[in-house]
Amino acid sequence: MSKIPALCALAASFACGWIGIERSLTAFKSFISAPTVHSPNITLCPQAPSMSPGRHAALNEQLNNRYSSETFKLASYQSLAAAIRIPTESYDDLLPVGQDERWNVFDDFHALLKESFPLMLAGLSCPPAQLVHLFARRYTSLTIVTVNTYGLVIHWQGSNHYLKPILLTAHQDVVPVDRSTEDQWLHPPYSGFYNGTWIFGRGSVDDKADLVAQLITVNSLLEGDFKPMRTIVLAFGIDEEASGTEGAGKLAIYLEETYGANGFAMLLDEGEGYGENLQEGIIFARPGISEKGYLDTRVEVFSPGGHSSIPPDHTSIGILSLLIASIEANPHPPRLLRNGTAFLAAQCAVEYSPDGQGKFPSEMKDLARRAHDDDDAALQKFAKALFAADPFFKVMSRTTQAVDIVSGELKINALPERAEAVINHRIAEHSSSQQVKDHLTDLIKPLAEKHQFSLQSFGEDVPDSPYKIVLSDAFYSSLEPSPIAPILNNPVYDVLSGTIIATLQSSKRYCADGVIVSPSLGLGNTGTKIRSSITDLYS
Ligand SMILES: *[C@@H]1O[C@H](CO)[C@@H](O)[C@H](O)[C@H]1NC(C)=O
Ligand SMILES: *[C@@H]1O[C@H](CO)[C@@H](O)[C@H](O)[C@H]1NC(C)=O
Ligand SMILES: [Zn+2]
Repeated sequence: MSKIPALCALAASFACGWIGIERSLTAFKSFISAPTVHSPNITLCPQAPSMSPGRHAALNEQLNNRYSSETFKLASYQSLAAAIRIPTESYDDLLPVGQDERWNVFDDFHALLKESFPLMLAGLSCPPAQLVHLFARRYTSLTIVTVNTYGLVIHWQGSNHYLKPILLTAHQDVVPVDRSTEDQWLHPPYSGFYNGTWIFGRGSVDDKADLVAQLITVNSLLEGDFKPMRTIVLAFGIDEEASGTEGAGKLAIYLEETYGANGFAMLLDEGEGYGENLQEGIIFARPGISEKGYLDTRVEVFSPGGHSSIPPDHTSIGILSLLIASIEANPHPPRLLRNGTAFLAAQCAVEYSPDGQGKFPSEMKDLARRAHDDDDAALQKFAKALFAADPFFKVMSRTTQAVDIVSGELKINALPERAEAVINHRIAEHSSSQQVKDHLTDLIKPLAEKHQFSLQSFGEDVPDSPYKIVLSDAFYSSLEPSPIAPILNNPVYDVLSGTIIATLQSSKRYCADGVIVSPSLGLGNTGTKIRSSITDLYS
């Protein structure tokens, strides 16, 4: 829904020749009254100056006019709707590409993209579909590569070879629709129905809007005869909603081989967006600068079977319940760290909350400054007030755990020989999968001893025993928390921030009092498999 303005943002940023760096002469105009200064004198949530294309101002103007025409908007909606109509579902149990015919739907998707964007994608899937140079006469600079058949990389060569390229990513796949819920959809999930305001369907936000917006933008720029100074690379994965190994995993290898380790100036992936984040008349745009880690742990309890008429005090299900109760009674404590993303985000939320009216008590502004300024007691107080005022910050600041699956025996007259639970963990920035495993082991060990069960913790070698508890990685899907993208005094981040601000402020769609760019933390995982090895700045 909120993605069409994103398109303008992209266009604006491309048009400014990116980090060429041409700052607009427009002075930064904050529409928000300057926050009251407290001591110590620290600027919380510093904002980059608004940045509009300078050298390409005329093209930008021309594109803005084009983007606001009804014909253009309708054509854009239609491109998105057509993309939604192709059910590129990705399933958890997909076999590799080439071994599972459920991938074939991506052939249809590519055919559609080619039809929608002939200027860019005419050469796509020309056999043997490896490296196809397009636009031999006019756009010698655009190259399309398919990676693992369906992953797409579009390379738009910039004129300055010394500048590192930027990478924009999106994914072609969507979460499968449970057929039994189809009649609960207002409009069928793969209809792409447009009611004059909204576009309905799976993928309309996540993530076909991003993908289509990127293609439309590049297409518009090509039509406007724009030639980038900095190389622009688009990469579209195919199984982000499943394991990501066939798409982003393979793309990451290709990109690192082609562009080198740390070969990009910036990676922009799907994020939390904005528009829905209107708070007290201010738009909070929230580029994600890091992502939590991920781990599913399995807890299994084994005990000898037998007849229900002569039961022990605890069956394996009973023991499992005790373990679950203990796990829930001992959650990972939230930690608000001075150098973490949650604190950065909190500073923005607090600083731009109207005094005395918002959900944050006004003394928090002062506390935040003192906390920022190395005052540990103030940081503790701030954290306490923050978690009370907005529990979402508590979620950001801790490793979360959710016992999502339990299973045991199916018969009533037999003692259960095995019972299991699977717990989903989203690992805090400051933690690691190893810490989660250690925490779980430490909790369960005394309980195992008390009930005379042996404990096998994450592949540990222990003698076999009829009474045992086994902890393991449930689906081998663990992912460490990402590093935090450096944003303070970083000109690359300032280009992103400044462009977001300029674009939103000039958008006819919004009638807000101002725009604040607030760093945020991704609680889920996006194209993270691509991220860390190829750039240290991503969003
Ligand atoms: C389109 O659908 C949305 C969501 O159901 C609704 O709020 C809106 O009023 C609809 N617009 C029109 C023009 O029917
Ligand atoms: C952040 O702060 C914590 C605690 O003060 C410290 O252990 C950690 O190394 C710091 N992380 C970074 C990336 O500086
Ligand atoms: Zn997504």
